[in-house]
Amino acid sequence: MAEATSRGIGPVILLGSPGAGKGTQAKQIVERYRIPQISTGDLLRDNVQRGTLLGVLARDVMARGELVPDDLVYDMVAQRLRQADCERGFILDGFPRNPAQAGWLDAFLEHEFFENAQRGKCLPIVIRIDVDYNWLLRRVTGRRSCPVCGRIYNVYSQPPRIADRCDVDGSPLVTRNDDREEVIRERLTAYELQTKPVAEYYARKGRLVTVNGDLPVNQVTGQIFNVIESHRAVAGDRG
Ligand code: AP5
Repeated sequence: MAEATSRGIGPVILLGSPGAGKGTQAKQIVERYRIPQISTGDLLRDNVQRGTLLGVLARDVMARGELVPDDLVYDMVAQRLRQADCERGFILDGFPRNPAQAGWLDAFLEHEFFENAQRGKCLPIVIRIDVDYNWLLRRVTGRRSCPVCGRIYNVYSQPPRIADRCDVDGSPLVTRNDDREEVIRERLTAYELQTKPVAEYYARKGRLVTVNGDLPVNQVTGQIFNVIESHRAVAGDRG
């Protein structure tokens, strides 16, 4: 574990449809590698809750299950990636969401992030979590999360020990506003039309790795850690 946390791993990008397990797996990576999770969905929801200008602009779009305009997301992501805790690496969960965002990210990393990062140039590890379409609705409708610590539960597959209470801090669990069935269908459509091509973008560059997200959480985590370790071994050989 000490070795796992002492070296940076650079950017990790998690791709996958709504409910694929990006947030769940991001938390496992945070714990093992001590790099921050940057969830554009969480950042946007935080802005909505605080009533910022960004939140006001994003609120209705998110409630419909559509993507927030790129320009709004770019500013938010750039500000976050400039923070010092991203130097050793970071996990992007929910970004990039379309090929334009993927191109923007490549340019940002090249012209800003790699210039300053302690560890020099380390190309992103791009991992897509594939889940059978039929499971997604159950995963999303069953999701509950803790508004205080962010821990994610599922009433079907990962229930809390006491119903509707967080195991960690006892807070009442909440359901996301966009986890209603009619909105989920819109989100799944947005994923099919706009986000699936992001995987093709990275596949063309030879940077896409896919893991089987139908398995239990710990087995998906095991696959992801293997991908990260292989990537580090190759990067270490080069460097
Ligand atoms: P966002 O918050 O990113 O939502 P999403 O992509 O739809 O993904 P989810 O959070 O629903 O799923 P997840 O893959 O994280 O799954 P989780 O781990 O929770 O985006 C929300 C909205 O914000 C968008 O619709 C858009 O409007 C806007 N937005 C965000 N980013 C944007 C961007 N870049 N550009 C423009 N707009 C943007 O798991 C789901 C459930 O399954 C949980 O209950 C969990 O316990 C369970 N589970 C997880 N893994 C397993 C497993 N292996 N087995 C069984 N159950 C499991």
